[in-house]
Amino acid sequence: MSDQSAEMTPEHMPLNVVVGVAGGIAAYKACHLVREFTEAGHSVRVVPTPAALNFVGAATFEALSGNPVDTGVFAKVDKVQHVRVGKEADLIVIAPATADTIARIAAGRADDLLTATVLVATCPVVLAPAMHTEMWENPATRDNVATLRRRGVIVLEPAHGRLTGTDTGAGRMLEAEQIAEMARTVVKRGRFERSLEGKKVVISAGGTQENIDPVRFIGNRSSGRQGFALADIAVHRGADVTIVAGATDELFTPPGANIVRVRSTRDMEQAVNDAAEGADIIIMAAAVADYRPEEEATSKLKKGQADDSLSTVKLVENPDILKGLVDKHVPATIVGFAAETDTPLEHGKAKLARKGADMLMVNDVSGGKVFGEKRNSGWLLAKDGGVEEIADGTKHEVAAGIWDAIEKLLPN
Ligand code: C5P
Repeated sequence: MSDQSAEMTPEHMPLNVVVGVAGGIAAYKACHLVREFTEAGHSVRVVPTPAALNFVGAATFEALSGNPVDTGVFAKVDKVQHVRVGKEADLIVIAPATADTIARIAAGRADDLLTATVLVATCPVVLAPAMHTEMWENPATRDNVATLRRRGVIVLEPAHGRLTGTDTGAGRMLEAEQIAEMARTVVKRGRFERSLEGKKVVISAGGTQENIDPVRFIGNRSSGRQGFALADIAVHRGADVTIVAGATDELFTPPGANIVRVRSTRDMEQAVNDAAEGADIIIMAAAVADYRPEEEATSKLKKGQADDSLSTVKLVENPDILKGLVDKHVPATIVGFAAETDTPLEHGKAKLARKGADMLMVNDVSGGKVFGEKRNSGWLLAKDGGVEEIADGTKHEVAAGIWDAIEKLLPN
């Protein structure tokens, strides 16, 4: 259970959540998803397909949700259950969504309680697909997914990884925390379109590290969480995403994003410049070390040496990656981040003018705020002087707000 779910909605507004479970081996992960929602205070009704019960028994779902479990349209006919469950739902999340269930929903079928529920519902519907790569890539599934997305159903990208058996590929179901996070963002933001389809996006995340000697380095407190959340939202809006990541916490990799791992500022500069080729949008969310030791010692520096080299490590300035991109007139929309204290808005405005980016997200990090935390807030400063406040929210919610603002800047 992640403590993210404790913030399912900041207002702690309990929702009626239907967790649909289709018949795939990933059904066991649906148990964790049910816990994510119930522990956040929501009322959960699990609606498995009959095939799902081959993997997890009804008793497990009943015990975890505290609600009865039915699979067919002829259960509790006196209560018109096949219509009622969908009508009363505030959110439907189907995890796993198999190729067959996706096909049946796309065809508008209502041959079990789950598909009937979806057909009736007017609330957000989120599908977390899980299937073998061949099925995911089959034109039939591609068409069904495209049809559902066109109709406003949110079909999450599956992860790339270990599938049933020993094979790996695209089609692995996201982890329960990732699904709950996306569902929360959908409910909170109320908008989820494929608005970045065809766009190439580069996002730097995490902190760079500069070696002093084989043991020590200069680093910073960035977790990479905001950059990864920006990447996650961009992936789900249809973008082709590359993350250039320095040191980060252990984070879920946004499904389908390319990740280039780097350590120093100069490594990051190289990787960002390489990825910038043909990019439409570049977001520098990384906390980049402004200075590095002039020389990296090959042996461990010792305390109390005659030259006192440990207490007087000489620093030299690193390249400014963001400014370099602007100065080179890279034809992309360029967004920077600024972690500030004291008078963050004033510092941010000065920084935007100095760096020349199209937009700057300013965070107030005084008193240890933001770094490593799950929530964020701040101001988005535009080149034309516009200031938009980004309200407190999870880093995914903040990322969705930042993307809404970036999309307004894009040509067409
Ligand atoms: O100057 P400062 O580090 O506060 O600027 C922050 C913004 O500039 C961030 O977007 C960061 O990723 C970027 N930056 C950079 N290269 C540096 C320092 C910061 O690209 N050397």
